[in-house]
Amino acid sequence: MQQPATHPQTIEEAASLIRAGEICAFATETVYGLGADATNPDAVLKIYQAKARPRFNPLIVHCADLNMAARLVEFSPLAQRLAEVFWPGPLTLVLPLKPDAGISDIVTAGLSTLAVRVPGLETARALIAAVGRPLAAPSANPSGRLSPTSAAQVRRAFDDQVPVLDGGACSAGLESTIIAVDGERLVQLRAGALPLADIERMAGGIIERAGDGDAVAAPGMLKSHYAPASRLRLDAKAPRPGEAFLAFADSPVHEGPTRNLSPTGNLEEAARNLFAMLQALDDEGAATIAVAPIPNAGLGEAINDRLKRAAAPRT
Ligand code: TXA
Ligand code: MG
Repeated sequence: MQQPATHPQTIEEAASLIRAGEICAFATETVYGLGADATNPDAVLKIYQAKARPRFNPLIVHCADLNMAARLVEFSPLAQRLAEVFWPGPLTLVLPLKPDAGISDIVTAGLSTLAVRVPGLETARALIAAVGRPLAAPSANPSGRLSPTSAAQVRRAFDDQVPVLDGGACSAGLESTIIAVDGERLVQLRAGALPLADIERMAGGIIERAGDGDAVAAPGMLKSHYAPASRLRLDAKAPRPGEAFLAFADSPVHEGPTRNLSPTGNLEEAARNLFAMLQALDDEGAATIAVAPIPNAGLGEAINDRLKRAAAPRT
């Protein structure tokens, strides 16, 4: 067994690691990210290696503020408005990459667009500002596994071989919503922590949803993802004997291992608990986790998206 990683204790320590071309996991309001200097191809390569992430799957670049993002991508007037309203926060915008942005091809997987966001968590923005460069950061999990919402989950997922700046538990618990902006046209590439209805209200129109396999879809939206070791049985009104149960609201009482995403039926609470509770039930080793029906409104869309991928046959 290799030595465990040395974990930075302060933002400054994490920033110097990243400036030196190393990777470091850090908290955001959505999930933990595995960060590297987005302008350093060797550093970004270490992210792909640590995650065993396919090279065709581009990374989100995290900026300290809108000014930093505006040096990297072209903002249409609509994109600018979305950024002004929802940043800092769990919205990722896919915009045309500026040719002189200094972002390596390995970040974009060769696309002419770049996904950018300004995280809502203040310590995340402070880290980016301390590095002084944009940070490429996918979720801090081995490719295809559950996304981590605590530092302990990240350490475990990588056998303690990756440095982690502990920023506490993530408040949203689900990844950012990804919107591609193409002039006046908006396409949701991934449902996430910012409900689509909030964006539609601001943008004053209906937003298209990219489907699996669509040309515009995010390359990383694989059918099987977020996969626990257990199998998932979705829309389970009642669990069967021997199953573990991921309950919601007033689900029936169950003899076996049970977690309730939100006893009061609150979708924000359910989103925050989703990955940690799936992980906890998975750890208890049941062959199947029955999952209670979750309403598909608001944040329910993103929760159901993650559950569907977690339940999909593994390829
Ligand atoms: O909340 C989040 O977004 C977290 C935190 C760490 O910020 N990050 C995250 O990154 O979820 P990741 O790599 O797990 O998911 C990024 C998704 C992938 O599905 C990827 O294919 C897509 O964004 N993506 C990145 N760049 C893209 C682009 N230029 N066009 C379309 N999709 C893109
Ligand atoms: Mg991910």
